[in-house]
Amino acid sequence: MSNYHIKNFPEYYHVYRNSVREPETFWEEIAEEHFVWKKKWDKVLEWDFSKPEIKWFEGAQLNITENCIDRHLATRGDKTAILFEPNNPSEPAQHITYNQLSERVNQFANVLKENGIKKGDRVCIYVPMIPELAIATLACARIGAIHSVVFAGFSATALSTRINDSDCKMVITSDGSYRGSKTIDLKGIVDEALESCNSVETVLVAKRINSDINMKEGRDQWLQPLLDEASTVCEAEVMEAEDPLFILYTSGSTGSPKGMVHTTAGYMIYTAYTFKNAFQYRENDVYWCTADIGWITGHSYIVYGPLANGATSVMFEGVPSYPDFGRFWEIVEKHKVNQFYTAPTAIRALAKHGTALVDKYDLSSLKVLGSVGEPINEEAWHWYNDTIGKKKSPIIDTWWQTETGGMMITPIPFVTPTKPTYATLPFIGIQPCLMDENGNELQGNQVEGRLCIKYPWPSMARTIWGNHQRYKETYFSAYKNCYFTGDGALRDEVGYYRITGRVDDVIIVSGHNLGTAPIEDAINEHPAVAESAIVGFPHDIKGSALYGYITLKDLGESRDHTNLSKEINQLIADKIGPIAKLDKIQFTEGLPKTRSGKIMRRLLRKIASNELDNLGDVSTLLNPEVVESIKENRL
Ligand code: WT7
Repeated sequence: MSNYHIKNFPEYYHVYRNSVREPETFWEEIAEEHFVWKKKWDKVLEWDFSKPEIKWFEGAQLNITENCIDRHLATRGDKTAILFEPNNPSEPAQHITYNQLSERVNQFANVLKENGIKKGDRVCIYVPMIPELAIATLACARIGAIHSVVFAGFSATALSTRINDSDCKMVITSDGSYRGSKTIDLKGIVDEALESCNSVETVLVAKRINSDINMKEGRDQWLQPLLDEASTVCEAEVMEAEDPLFILYTSGSTGSPKGMVHTTAGYMIYTAYTFKNAFQYRENDVYWCTADIGWITGHSYIVYGPLANGATSVMFEGVPSYPDFGRFWEIVEKHKVNQFYTAPTAIRALAKHGTALVDKYDLSSLKVLGSVGEPINEEAWHWYNDTIGKKKSPIIDTWWQTETGGMMITPIPFVTPTKPTYATLPFIGIQPCLMDENGNELQGNQVEGRLCIKYPWPSMARTIWGNHQRYKETYFSAYKNCYFTGDGALRDEVGYYRITGRVDDVIIVSGHNLGTAPIEDAINEHPAVAESAIVGFPHDIKGSALYGYITLKDLGESRDHTNLSKEINQLIADKIGPIAKLDKIQFTEGLPKTRSGKIMRRLLRKIASNELDNLGDVSTLLNPEVVESIKENRL
């Protein structure tokens, strides 16, 4: 029996039990047998959730790129590592082998070094889903630079906030990007962002759409000529186990985005191990995750997890709707995809277009279907299972977070019996628990509470960049000696978990994590706006959509509300990105508030969701009279 590859339920049960009884022995064996080290560790784990401080494999030295690339060259040199499928279906796919990936990563790493990047420097990567994105990420890891990938759909303001927060020395971008039938002027966005960034010395620009762009003398350089000159050999930097590998920003319920810091050894081990088992990946399988590398899903399950296993990982530049809603299935047929990993919002959007565009294609290569990002509703689950999986490919509903680095609660396909809408059982080594409002752990089954994790796992984020106090407050203060996830969950009669959704002011729209506070801040910048409150409401495709209640400074002045709504959404798109636009905007004369002046979001959430019957007692509010008018005018 191998601990590394779980093949049946008794094995899962046995290995899980060992992994929680003797976590250090368990992880040490995995680390020992399946990865290459420059130096072994002195200690497997040291932790204290009250500080919080978590260290895995202290004393060990390694480079993650040697584990993801170099060690495969002898046996898998000609195997495709990254299979790039362009936006335009008539542009040929690119099969980048492990040998080629090695050369291209090393060249890129040498270019970084020649441009002054050293171990520990932060490099912002704002690149669309083209091979350079994965290669730049790995090149940073090669030389020990800390990458901060920013999703190339974010606005200039969002980009500059992230660049400044971690003082990035360099930005890597492209002239532009393709998105379905549109092109986006990425370099223009970078130029605008950099007007308010002082730390950036160099901008490297990949050519993708051949647009005519501005190159700032002394700062901007075309990437390709530099790569052409660079050596294909670059020695991997020696990294300590706990050296930061990357920063990835995620929205919080309040304040600025949080730069979650992930470190090297634990992250590598856990993403590799979960990838292998959660997808039951076998040599020669073709694996495809439709996420963008700008999110944690792409970091862990397009780049690091798959490559650490020597897998073939598909990287898709486009969108599910271009040239039509059959594109995903066309790609599955074309590349004979075996494992397919996507988000419920995509499943719902595709299901809406019926089965004709599915039936056109041969999906018989599919073995495992994955879901991530938000709870998958029953209808979407069945459509995915029946229409895509033909009831023979198990669905893994994988629950995890940017902060957790890897999957935490998920079925293992062909091992764990699935149950619609349930993420089922904790992954090996993960110790979840449910807490009640008073901070007591709920024992036994058939209970519902707040989801926490009581023991460290290797890929957990170690801190928030530049703000350890915030890390402590956000994740380790609500419950003593536990990591608090921000989610609610229930445990059924057999111990399966079902995630019920966020219990804080984070709203998940189309699988994207959005904090209400930054959106409200953006809206409040509009000169006509006095105050605003954002809540989520159920949406057929997006899962949740945003509903904004807005009060204006001067209602006497009759303003065109349609135009105002447009201006407000434009402001949000500029400040955060189009994903944060509001679906519904209700202008109201007041927002319901408690006596201490807090906006009663719970009430607003119910009104937005059309749950008007049980609004509870509103008489204790500061201004109960506004509730009636908000109800009457709801959209
Ligand atoms: C939040 C984390 C993990 C990568 C993508 C999102 C929600 C995620 C599930 C799932 C129910 C889920 C949670 C979580 N979530 N996966 N399978 N079932 N909810 O990463 O942006 O950090 O968001 O997404 O609410 O806390 P993220």
